[in-house]
Amino acid sequence: MKLRSACAYLILASCAHAPRAAGPTLDLVAEAPIAGHFDDVADRGSATALVGEGAIVTHEDITQTLEHTRFTAVAQVPAPDGLGSWTVAVDHEGKLLRVRDRGVLEDVRARFGLADAKLSGACALDAEHGAFFEQDELVVVGGGTARRFAIGRGAARACGGGKLAITVAEQVLRYDARKDSWRTFSLRAEALALDAQGTLWASRGKALYRATADELVLELELGSRVTSLVASGTRLWIGEGTQLGWLEGARYAHARDLALEATTRFAAGRDGKLWVLFRDRARRVDAPAVAAESDASWSALVAPVVARSCGNCHRPGGRGGFDLRAESAWRSHLGAIVERVLDDRDMPPANAPLAEDDRAAVKRWLDAQR
Ligand code: HEC
Repeated sequence: MKLRSACAYLILASCAHAPRAAGPTLDLVAEAPIAGHFDDVADRGSATALVGEGAIVTHEDITQTLEHTRFTAVAQVPAPDGLGSWTVAVDHEGKLLRVRDRGVLEDVRARFGLADAKLSGACALDAEHGAFFEQDELVVVGGGTARRFAIGRGAARACGGGKLAITVAEQVLRYDARKDSWRTFSLRAEALALDAQGTLWASRGKALYRATADELVLELELGSRVTSLVASGTRLWIGEGTQLGWLEGARYAHARDLALEATTRFAAGRDGKLWVLFRDRARRVDAPAVAAESDASWSALVAPVVARSCGNCHRPGGRGGFDLRAESAWRSHLGAIVERVLDDRDMPPANAPLAEDDRAAVKRWLDAQR
């Protein structure tokens, strides 16, 4: 059977045939004590530093406002002497300033061997490695050494899990600081994230990819263009059009109560939380675990499985003969799916095995339909 409706070609489409599940409500766990526009956050331990037009540092109950022109990035990086970590911010002139207690700012470029460098960014790869971006160069510090790489002007960047990734033209370059090695993936990616395990995520248009040992494989096709990716704890937060979604395990859910604007930015918060940086306020949000548990919608349970295990064959022109990438298609093939996937277990075919967790997720959804 051929599906002609446009909805059939969208997995998480918000159209009549594949209604988008009403998502759970996010928990607002913190709000910046001062209104303003922030671009980045370093949120680890008990202190949080928010920077943008001005900066604030909150340490437990104490909030300090740092009067300075403008900052573009902030990160907690290993101290140059190897003892502990420093919170450092990059300002609009490219200086690297250590944010100290009592709101004192100190230019620390020379301490990292970067005297006179004009920086455009900073990030933490893990507790032992930090990275600074110069015009066309990348400097990775840690373990008492600084390694320099000429990388050109990358657009999207991500750091985490001991790795760093950057897009350069049609490729994603990934650096592993623990192995001091580079790997190249071919994709003209628009957004990148690296989670705590060092798994690389990339997006292009509506497609979300996850890196395996040697390639980026399609993980999920979303309903709108992916604007940003942030890994935090066990979650991958996804700015999807005007919506905020998150992938946790094989589950994808949307927040019901949040509308993103074109200027909204994101930064990882501690323990899987996310900082949502609006034009005039900054909020730290958390995904409610119970809501994700009770989200038994097709988008949450089945769509990720389709992207991983069915969509390659069951798409227009694919070997499977019919398109299975929309909820409406699943509904019209319900009986055959139950028979082949649950009863006979011969679909997907043996050469493309289905993970048991995925079969269980499909079963949960199918059970709820019967
Ligand atoms: C490697 C390619 C491949 C993958 C992956 C695959 N299929 Fe299939 N599927 C086929 C082919 C080829 C057929 C037709 C031959 C047959 O029935 O065995 C088919 C047939 C089916 C049928 C039978 C349709 C009918 O009307 O009898 C169902 C149902 C089905 N697939 C569901 C799925 C589901 C659900 C997944 C993912 C969990 C999946 N398939 C993954 C190739 C694939």
